[in-house]
Amino acid sequence: MTVKEIFDTMSYGPAPESAAEALAWLVDQGDRFGHFINGTFTAPGDGFNSQNPATGEVLATLTQATQADVDTAVAAARSAQPKWEKLGGPGRARYLYAIARLLQKHSRLFAVLETMDNGKPIRESRDIDIPLAQRHFYYHAGMAQLMESELPDRAALGVCGQIIPWNFPLLMLAWKVAPAIAMGNTVVLKPAEYTSLTALLFADICRQAGLPKGVVNIVTGDGAVGEMVVAADVDKIAFTGSTAVGRRIREATAGSGKALTLELGGKSPYIVFDDADIDSAVEGLVDAIWFNQGQVCCAGSRLLVQESIAERFHAKLRARMDKLRLGDPLDKCIDVGAVVDPMQLKTITDLVAANDAGATYQAQVDIPEEGCFFRPTLIEGLTPADRLMQDEIFGPVLVSCTFRIPAEAVELANNTRYGLAASVWSENVNLALDIAPKLACGVVWVNGTNMFDAAAGFGGVRESGFGREGGWEGLSAYTKPHAKSKALAQVKGFTGQGSGADPIDRTAKMYIGGKQARPDSGYSRAVHDRSGAILGYVGLGSRKDVRNAVEAAAGAKGWSKTTGHLRAQILYYIGENLSARAEEFAHRIDHMTGRRSGAKEVEASIQRLFTAAAWADKYDGQVHGVPIRGVALAMKEPVGVIGALCADEAPLLGLVSVMAPAIAMGNRVVLTASEPFPLAATDFYQVLDTSDVPAGVVNILTGSHVDLAGPLASHMNVDAVWSFSSTDLSAEIEKASASNLKRTWVNNGTALDWDTDHSRRFLEAATEIKNIWVPYGE
Ligand code: NAI
Repeated sequence: MTVKEIFDTMSYGPAPESAAEALAWLVDQGDRFGHFINGTFTAPGDGFNSQNPATGEVLATLTQATQADVDTAVAAARSAQPKWEKLGGPGRARYLYAIARLLQKHSRLFAVLETMDNGKPIRESRDIDIPLAQRHFYYHAGMAQLMESELPDRAALGVCGQIIPWNFPLLMLAWKVAPAIAMGNTVVLKPAEYTSLTALLFADICRQAGLPKGVVNIVTGDGAVGEMVVAADVDKIAFTGSTAVGRRIREATAGSGKALTLELGGKSPYIVFDDADIDSAVEGLVDAIWFNQGQVCCAGSRLLVQESIAERFHAKLRARMDKLRLGDPLDKCIDVGAVVDPMQLKTITDLVAANDAGATYQAQVDIPEEGCFFRPTLIEGLTPADRLMQDEIFGPVLVSCTFRIPAEAVELANNTRYGLAASVWSENVNLALDIAPKLACGVVWVNGTNMFDAAAGFGGVRESGFGREGGWEGLSAYTKPHAKSKALAQVKGFTGQGSGADPIDRTAKMYIGGKQARPDSGYSRAVHDRSGAILGYVGLGSRKDVRNAVEAAAGAKGWSKTTGHLRAQILYYIGENLSARAEEFAHRIDHMTGRRSGAKEVEASIQRLFTAAAWADKYDGQVHGVPIRGVALAMKEPVGVIGALCADEAPLLGLVSVMAPAIAMGNRVVLTASEPFPLAATDFYQVLDTSDVPAGVVNILTGSHVDLAGPLASHMNVDAVWSFSSTDLSAEIEKASASNLKRTWVNNGTALDWDTDHSRRFLEAATEIKNIWVPYGE
């Protein structure tokens, strides 16, 4: 080809990266791998092949872990953990730093091996996956260094089971391993069966770094091995993968006391307003949906484009698609590589073939005859209910629809069961920053897409899972409070024969939507004092009352938009009004409980209200510096509707300690009163009534915790459920929570000490962090 011809066609390359070193490394290992347990590779056993999806070539044989392998790995991690934790943050930091350095030193080998194993273009593995993995270890070396000074009240969880997917094999490993070991945990990690090679190379790096044996253990195999890890004697499961498997893991770990974080699927909107820089927004889409062949959980896979520019935008997009270069992922000129495996290719092909809605356009580009390649695809003119607008395709397929006004864009964007990420394109900063807070998701990129950094937490809301990875917020997922907890003991009320009966009905009502409400069941029960005399009656709440209360709470959305300043004033007001009736409440508590702690409990409740009021306008977000032209605003947002079973033993303080921080952060709550001692809660709504609390913000139910837990935990409009009941309902609640993957905080057989102020923990549980990436600086 002459120079003139090159200028005429502007064709690139080829510029292939050599596979020689990676192939040599595989040969060195004998092309057969065992697991990495207790600092050594085990002998290879029965297993399966790992293939290059671009060529079909077998790269190596991997071992399918047996139950005994998983048990040995967990035992190694368990015995290494105390010493690793005791080494202290600065001691651990040295190892993380050494790993980061070695990842840097061998970065090309990692990049090539990743590309061969996964099919992603070398440009991406070389410039994105591997540098970000290194960055994660450097960043968390720093977190280990700072742990003792900055997180003095946090301790390691113990042994963490970690299960990762195939789309970013080394990067997902780094996201999981770095924070875990930085905080003093040890890990058993299972890479995805399609892409385990860089995890095994990483094991080699751990050896080279002299990492103590058993701190990192890697077992290979398919979902069955994942299930073994989930069931093993571990203290936490961290999972990234499909929502279906995430839900199964939620159910499998229910009531086990294992901490859990889930980073699941998405159908992230990519919103283009008519005042966007259109060429940049088109180019952004290349990174949003054709990056990594669209196999990205936060891929901008749903284009929402303003009607007035839609035609022009789609035309430019189709023209850009035709310029994408598909082919050998090892070629440095390639934009789009191979899909990870023939199975995934079939899933994508079938989903697209089954769709008859909208107009499908596939890039007019050459694709290799062999290998797992799929043409970049655009499906225009879909409606929100179309299957491909709702379901994750996890391939290079973009679906699109149009909107007319910003409010419609928000509605369409949020019309999904997922909530991972979103991109907003507009040259108008007012518009972009007006839209960002309205999007139900964990990450928003303004005039950008698919940007990641260790300093900015990543994770979703709704069925995209819970927990964050990265940033300060990611650390709480790998630590627990130092605080000791007591064993849970069932608290019972007094019984009696009904002396003191009153001809006038004194059944305390429930409190729903700012009004007193009779129980739907029509049933009530007596509450007695120590002598057996009747103090009053309370309604027995049922599923229907839960539904009414949730509806009222869901309707009180306006509360979440109020300012912290306003919420603080209302909380102070509640405190003041409670203070005015302190004596009456103290007597009530003393009568119900037969103790003399009422006055102290009321005083502590007033203090909790004042503390929550104090925090309402101070529990601020952060600004993360990220090494890209921009900053990430880590904004604290309310979780939404929180359902809670309040402590039985502290009838007023248990309720107030939950309610105050939750509503201070802008949540609406459905509280189930202390079961044996409910009358303080039913008296309390009179205080709420006189304190300007808007209707629906606080709803109070009475009745059996066992009966109310299920309906609360399975309700699709409840975003989080907490249980401090003295009946251990952890398993039921966590299992039922899998319905919409709501956040849970259950006691797992232990009781909080209500005399201690846990406001910080409550504030954390009452907020979601949304990272909004905005352009900033040069
Ligand atoms: P997957 O969720 O089945 O696999 C992810 C990881 O979980 C792998 O390591 C796998 O071995 C393991 N696993 C599978 N079943 C398990 C179980 N019952 N218990 C414990 N671990 C288990 O995802 P898969 O099948 O590879 O892909 C299917 C779909 O999932 C994709 O088409 C895509 O929609 C979605 N996906 C989403 C990802 C994300 O990052 N959000 C990543 C990978 C897949």
